[in-house]
Amino acid sequence: IKNIAVLTSGGDAPGMNACIRAVVRTGIYNGINMFGVLQGYQGLISNNINPMDARSVSNIIHLGGTILKTARCLEFKTDEGMQLAYDNLKKHDIDALVVIGGDGTFTGAKRFGEKFGIRVMGVPGTIDNDLYGSDFTLGYDTAINTVVEAIDKIRDTADSHDRLFFIEVMGRDSGCIALRSAISSGAEAVLLPEKDTSLNELIAQLETGASTKKTSSIVIVSEGHKDGGAYDVAKKVKERFNHYDTKVTILGHLQRGGSPSSFDRILGSRLGFAAVNELLKGNTMQMVGLRGNDVQTTSLKDALTTHSFKLESDLLEMTKVLSI
Ligand code: F6P
Repeated sequence: IKNIAVLTSGGDAPGMNACIRAVVRTGIYNGINMFGVLQGYQGLISNNINPMDARSVSNIIHLGGTILKTARCLEFKTDEGMQLAYDNLKKHDIDALVVIGGDGTFTGAKRFGEKFGIRVMGVPGTIDNDLYGSDFTLGYDTAINTVVEAIDKIRDTADSHDRLFFIEVMGRDSGCIALRSAISSGAEAVLLPEKDTSLNELIAQLETGASTKKTSSIVIVSEGHKDGGAYDVAKKVKERFNHYDTKVTILGHLQRGGSPSSFDRILGSRLGFAAVNELLKGNTMQMVGLRGNDVQTTSLKDALTTHSFKLESDLLEMTKVLSI
């Protein structure tokens, strides 16, 4: 391998820059020519591919977002788009690609690698924590910290005004952000896509709280929950439970930004370093991830198709017990 390119794709996640820095510097340290692709797969198609040196990644470890920019690229799903991307990689003589992103990114990388034999290594970068093969994905820890900081502030108002707040958090089909932020913020209840909590159950829990002198409550609603978003749930609850004034907050994209936590900086550095080293060892079509405290590889196929229930069962149980 002589030339490696790196790109970020899908939703941005804090820690992506730490990872880009590690990829570029590990490659250069090993005598590889490094390239950065702007705007994910879109940049491959439009030949937005530029050489990078050790100084192109100076002073970025603490920055959220991604200096390489990102996109959700529909054209890369077509045969024509992929062919253009491949032709552009060949113009620069690039023989391997590090892709940092989530499941959509890996689906594209897997197809691309299979179709053209280009070497690919994935790094799990998404706040959702919804990939198999890594206990934590890049950005997940920072996102939880951001959510908890926001909930702490909302709790001040909930407590001062004796209110019930429904707070909607991201995670697409994964309740990981919701569960961890519920535990860390001491929320009264949490609604997750993976768990079928009925409205009856939720209302019973809120009733118990009200009857035992709770004067305010916070319910975290994961965006992928079956009863809809926080506004839908709040409306349904309000029809049957009227002890408090009810408010809704959607945290939205503020969860994706901000300076990465030290955990995400270290994770990004470890996984970027490992991604290049795995390519240099001759590995391809893998994802590097953290299992326990070890960096390990998982095939892109398994990362995408093995569905593991990633919610910690003790945390699930605690949501009920600790909020009485
Ligand atoms: O995958 C990360 C994520 O932030 C999800 O939690 C959310 O459902 C989605 O991306 C939002 O995507 P967009 O920024 O394209 O609206």
